[in-house]
Amino acid sequence: MTPLIWIIDEEWPDYDMERKLLRERYPDCDIRFSSYDYAEDLENFGKDADAILCQIYATLPREAIERLTRCKAIAVYGGGFDRVDIVAAREKGIKVTNISNYCKEDLADYTMAAVYFFYKQVAQLSAEVKTLPWGAQAIERPPMRLSESVMHIIGLGRIGREVAAKAKGNGLKVTAYDPYVSAEEMAASGVAKTGWDEGLAGADYISVNCILNEETTGLIKYEDFEKMKSSAYLVNTARGKVIDEEAMVRALEKGLIKGAMLDVIATEPPTYSEKIFGCQNAYVTPHVSYISVQSFEELKRRAVGNAVMGMEGKISPDLVNG
Ligand SMILES: NC(=O)c1ccc[n+]([C@@H]2O[C@H](COP(=O)([O-])OP(=O)(O)OC[C@H]3O[C@@H](n4cnc5c(N)ncnc54)[C@H](O)[C@@H]3O)[C@@H](O)[C@H]2O)c1
Repeated sequence: MTPLIWIIDEEWPDYDMERKLLRERYPDCDIRFSSYDYAEDLENFGKDADAILCQIYATLPREAIERLTRCKAIAVYGGGFDRVDIVAAREKGIKVTNISNYCKEDLADYTMAAVYFFYKQVAQLSAEVKTLPWGAQAIERPPMRLSESVMHIIGLGRIGREVAAKAKGNGLKVTAYDPYVSAEEMAASGVAKTGWDEGLAGADYISVNCILNEETTGLIKYEDFEKMKSSAYLVNTARGKVIDEEAMVRALEKGLIKGAMLDVIATEPPTYSEKIFGCQNAYVTPHVSYISVQSFEELKRRAVGNAVMGMEGKISPDLVNG
């Protein structure tokens, strides 16, 4: 039977790499495409797909998964697979994969870019230079040197460790909160393990790098912002829902922390009516921290490989519902 591969995506400008790689393996395969609003396509052809390649924004709930008749693999284009019901997929024998570890350098670079954005303020100062006094008076408050600053990482997984390495390379001291990583393991990466309150209270920069799951949804609440230094900056590249966004807006408006750089927010894609877009000292980028020529190439190549492995009954190291 001709394999049917269904791609659910609204991000990529083309699918040349997917076509090339899939046709190398299955010369006669049928490749179909849908937007995130795929309900009609699911009934028309998607239910008979042998594998699904889906963007992280595509939601695949139990009701959709239960309609699938032949599917062997759901290969997510990215690290976060929180919109796929992996339990429902497992029950149907469908292997769900993500792409772990592929963009840790890119996310760590973004985090350091955010640190420097807040630290040296070159973007803000150069944009406003004509309205500012010339010289030291342009600086509202001298920043602490990075060598005197602490980066606190929430979630010391693959990306968190890369953030730690880059932060240390830039002179910061690094602490981390992760209930699933021992103090010994952290010490091996030169990171000091802290408790929840202690880590927040000691940080000049906080990087959110934990997985989003039931346990971490709304992990950072209003009272947690009260524990942070009023001079602290927060960077989130993990998932928006790890933070209670409404609480963060209130905290920023009250000056409980100095600023936040957010590559991920609670509602994605947003409508731009979300309060975070009107919030002073919140800087939002459109979920792009993972992007580089190299990360794109790896993402697509591995996602197709995962779909093929699933279709052929092989276990990918990227399996998330084994
Ligand atoms: N912005 C982007 O473009 C982008 C790209 C890739 C990944 N991500 C996000 O980054 C996240 C981290 O990726 P990773 O590859 O490092 O994942 P990982 O699985 O290696 O690390 C996640 C870490 O979170 C920790 N964790 C679990 N529960 C926790 C809790 N209650 N408190 C603190 N830590 C907890 C785990 O112990 C683990 O060490 C992904 O889940 C994904 O959502 C974002």
